[in-house]
Amino acid sequence: QKQDDYQLLGNIARYYQHNLKHHSDSKSVIDYLKGRGLSGEIVKKFGVGYAPDSWDGVMGQFGQSQPLSAQLVELGMAIQGDKNRPYDRFRGRVMFPITDKRGRVIGFGGRVLSDGTPKYLNSPETRIYHKGQELYGLYEAKKYAKDLQRLVVVEGYMDVVALAQHDIPYAVASLGTSTTVEQLQTLFRTVKEVVCCYDGDRAGRDAAWRAMENALPLIRDGFSLKFVFLPDGEDPDTLVRQQGKDAFETIIDNAKPLSQFIFEHLLSSLDTNSAEGKAALIGKFEPYLEKMPDSVLKDSMITDLANKFGLGSEQQLHKLTRTKSKTS
Ligand code: CTP
Ligand code: MN
Ligand code: MN
Ligand code: MN
Ligand code: MN
Repeated sequence: QKQDDYQLLGNIARYYQHNLKHHSDSKSVIDYLKGRGLSGEIVKKFGVGYAPDSWDGVMGQFGQSQPLSAQLVELGMAIQGDKNRPYDRFRGRVMFPITDKRGRVIGFGGRVLSDGTPKYLNSPETRIYHKGQELYGLYEAKKYAKDLQRLVVVEGYMDVVALAQHDIPYAVASLGTSTTVEQLQTLFRTVKEVVCCYDGDRAGRDAAWRAMENALPLIRDGFSLKFVFLPDGEDPDTLVRQQGKDAFETIIDNAKPLSQFIFEHLLSSLDTNSAEGKAALIGKFEPYLEKMPDSVLKDSMITDLANKFGLGSEQQLHKLTRTKSKTS
């Protein structure tokens, strides 16, 4: 007899949490978490647990009947090899339960304790886990952040948990290479200000640009998207541990507005002193302006563009105005 999917994954999360305290590896796992600056309290708040280094941990505990072992495979908790019984997907890892907005466990991310690969193993897409739609930590942010006004989007599990550890309980992770349109919609349904704070590396900067592109159609008056660019090699976890809550919040407070991000990024590749450069500038801005709904932000970006770069001729302004009216 199969079980309710959510109930089963909830029970597995509790099993992992139990192992964190009572398994024979317990001490080394707790030392690992302590070494990363996490308290027992925060570990509990996020339901962090431990998957024993066994092929038959979850399977042995939850997959004794044929229907249940099949369900574990369907939910991504076990893997069916060519023959024999399915075996545990997650082995010897620190486990982060991923919850939906109602707090039900829908999947897991598991981190190796040392430097094995892959560093993180995640639940595959299943009938209840759709990676591009979920935000790790959103349930906890809604629960623990009082008067939620803004959300900070980070890349990883550890970033969310480390920020919460430092009394910044309003971070969520997009759990993929980029933040999707669906995730951005969810964010802007929850708060009016979203700050992207990805890792200070090439991948993080690329992710910021893609998030900006995905968000453009969603930015209406009163809503804002901002960006923090961390020093190379840092991520929110390393930074908040070095510098603490106040310094990190100052960085968030001073995040770069979307308009500034676009201007700086597009300008960096052009010589705007030449007529050719100015002409190319309009062409570069157009696709981004086209994606934006009519708003004060869009109008002011068009005005800025015209003023700053002397794009005052009738024809040039006409081009920009056309861009503006097309979406209105
Ligand atoms: N990630 C993943 N699979 C990997 C590497 C990364 O799914 N093999 C995802 C995880 O959600 C991870 C996020 O991408 O949290 C960011 O990756 P990275 O910056 O490499 O890891 P950190 O979260 O910084 O990991 P840690 O601090 O634990 O080393
Ligand atoms: Mn579904
Ligand atoms: Mn990274
Ligand atoms: Mn990182
Ligand atoms: Mn990290």
